[in-house]
Amino acid sequence: MSRVTDDVREAASALRHGDVVAIPTETVYGLAADADNIDAIERVFDLKRRPRSHPLIVHVANMEDAETFGELDDRTRQLVGVLWPGPLTIVVPRLPRASDAITGGLDTVALRMPSHPVTLALLEEFGGAVVAPSANKFGKVSPTRPAHVVADFEDVDLLILDGGECSVGLESTIVDCTTDKVQVLRPGAVSMTDIESILHESTATATGPSRAPGMLKSHYAPDCAVEIHESAADAGERARQLEHQGIKFKIIDRSEDSLECARRLYADLRDCDDSKVAVALFVAPPDVGIGRAVRDRLRKAAAPRP
Ligand code: TXA
Ligand code: MG
Repeated sequence: MSRVTDDVREAASALRHGDVVAIPTETVYGLAADADNIDAIERVFDLKRRPRSHPLIVHVANMEDAETFGELDDRTRQLVGVLWPGPLTIVVPRLPRASDAITGGLDTVALRMPSHPVTLALLEEFGGAVVAPSANKFGKVSPTRPAHVVADFEDVDLLILDGGECSVGLESTIVDCTTDKVQVLRPGAVSMTDIESILHESTATATGPSRAPGMLKSHYAPDCAVEIHESAADAGERARQLEHQGIKFKIIDRSEDSLECARRLYADLRDCDDSKVAVALFVAPPDVGIGRAVRDRLRKAAAPRP
């Protein structure tokens, strides 16, 4: 049975014992383990049923820890100087503290300093760094509330640190800082424009085979079918068809407010499954800022399942 607590010291002590603890962050809940304890890291992969080749993000509370896991150049330091703590993950050359268990044998490591006050308090109390993939079973929708983690890990003895509802609601932006131009591997709340205005240089969207292993076409998949519509009118028309066929659907239209769209997206998808909706009709927000990240996750939720 999983258990929810708001005791940061209890969570830190569990991490020190090598246990996996579900933690809040401003993006989504994560399954955290001591980044210096290989057995604990292995348990994260087992719990998530995640292939070992899909590398994890190291979460730090200070620059000293960041600089012992990865090698940051001046441009990268400039970027995180402005955007950390926050929903930005950097991919940089790895240093010896980043084990193969974390990186899946890659020569780079992903690092992030989350901004959620409870996460920072936990890391401070723990006194180290944690790996933390999203706290969902592999291929499923990420959790943004403690109840989502409870639902996914009902059968497991897991401590869940309560930090309330995640304020961003989508996973962090991942940027590859090892390339000539900074490349966005996964869109998130930090946009390309944000990065460009800090660095005063252009960025690129990664193309070709994904360099973020585990970024599959179908991901973030609920049980229901997902459709993306560009307007409320389009969604309404489709709803009439479905109604005619006797198919249970739900329209989700938060397109007027992209931040709210992002914050609620995963809860909306989970709600559709809980109420046995067959088709979720999403009205997509405009393709700018965090709207781009929402559309990316919607496309993945709508993609054909393996
Ligand atoms: O917002 C987030 O980033 C959340 C919260 C919990 O912090 N975490 C999260 O972790 O989304 P996860 O494991 O679900 O996604 C990590 C992504 C994967 O797609 C992985 O391939 C990529 O980061 N990644 C990790 N290390 C990498 C590396 N060295 N090079 C390229 N991609 C990497
Ligand atoms: Mg994930």
